[in-house]
Amino acid sequence: MKNLNDFTGLLHHLNRIGIALSSEKDLNRLLDLILREARSFVQADAGSLFLKQGEGLIFIAAQNETLDSGERDKKVQANYLGSFLPLSKESIAGYVAVTGEVLNILDAYHLPPEVSYRFFRTFDEENHYRTFSILAVPLRIPEGEIIGVLQLINALNEKKEPISFHESFEELVCSLASQAAVAIRNAMLLEEIQQAHLDTIFRLSKAAEYRDEDTEVHLRRVTGYTMVISGKLGLSSEEIGLLKYAAPMHDIGKLGVPDSVLLKPGKLTPEEFEQMKRHTLIGAKILEGSDQKLFQVAKEIALSHHEKFNGTGYPYGLKGEEIPFYGRIVALPDVFDALTSKRVYKPAFPVEQAVEMIREESGKHFDPVVVKAFLDSLEEIQQVKNREDQSSVTII
Ligand code: C2E
Ligand code: SIN
Ligand code: SIN
Ligand code: FE
Repeated sequence: MKNLNDFTGLLHHLNRIGIALSSEKDLNRLLDLILREARSFVQADAGSLFLKQGEGLIFIAAQNETLDSGERDKKVQANYLGSFLPLSKESIAGYVAVTGEVLNILDAYHLPPEVSYRFFRTFDEENHYRTFSILAVPLRIPEGEIIGVLQLINALNEKKEPISFHESFEELVCSLASQAAVAIRNAMLLEEIQQAHLDTIFRLSKAAEYRDEDTEVHLRRVTGYTMVISGKLGLSSEEIGLLKYAAPMHDIGKLGVPDSVLLKPGKLTPEEFEQMKRHTLIGAKILEGSDQKLFQVAKEIALSHHEKFNGTGYPYGLKGEEIPFYGRIVALPDVFDALTSKRVYKPAFPVEQAVEMIREESGKHFDPVVVKAFLDSLEEIQQVKNREDQSSVTII
């Protein structure tokens, strides 16, 4: 237990936690960080987080020093994640979420008879754990709304024996919980903004093509394959993140190709194919001139995804490493998906045949490094294909 008389020390500690929380943007890592910091702050053996969702509380994260460090089956613990509690005063977390009160419980198995909440022992029984003390506080944002509950379980003394949570910790943990609430809300808003951003990109890119084929599924598959191959190539998560947003825009220049060419049911004449080729230049024109790295990358891909490694592609006939790396990457998933899909001008090839055609084009159409990464991840490629083929949701 921390020395409660050392207030300056505690405030410094809280301050450091606040800074750490506000700089973590990834929701799952943030939830883990909150539990880790809160547990270490009060020397708690375990902790769990609940977030409000609709009329319930979702059990979203848990840590348990005793169980996590032991040899026991962690699956039993993990089974509980994602489960729902009703927003009612019958459970401890529910009570805190509804009333906004702090509960500081000495022994979960011996609650005073007059209280409305009770402790559910199923988790303890399945995991051979014994919950004694619980400090449950609301996750309240500054506007007053409660977005969830933080539960700290089994305060430990120096001998690692369970004791009660000292009363003076209640205020401090509440303060930590408000910082956590703000960080969680921000991370969720950021996720929503990113999702809306991605949605916008897909809608615009889809609008550019409106083929009778399902363009959106094509875009999702090409983007999925691109991410798998990029991972295999060892690109950083930042680069992979950029490609996730940039790759769907590779054909946005088809917006400027006449319908008579874009939607032609049969083979294109040489003149029509010349018109079609301009979609690379038109795409670059649409995407150029932005300060945003995302659009710079998207422009580069739109311009270069039909260049070929041996210099016979378009629009410029660039060769080998003259072709921007991201363009060399996206070229492969784009063709692989075109080959394995039915088009107005061609039937779909079976996957095995398409893979052979790609292998055959190594060093000709495609960068051999990219082909190798593709061939080394065929299983994941197939998984992406299955996933996207099943989830053909229509948004326009
Ligand atoms: P797309 O249908 O998305 O095809 C992308 C690329 O996949 C093609 O780029 C080509 O490199 C490859 N690809 C597609 N189908 C086949 C195929 O059957 N065999 C082989 N070996 N490769 C294939 P490409 O050729 O530069 O075409 C760019 C876009 O032009 C195509 O995008 C499509 O929208 C259009 N297009 C190409 N040929 C025809 C055609 O004969 N008729 C029509 N209506 N459109 C065509
Ligand atoms: C890029 O396309 O921005 C990467 C340049 C390269 O590694 O070729
Ligand atoms: C083409 O441009 O249609 C041929 C694609 C390839 O080289 O595989
Ligand atoms: Fe294209």
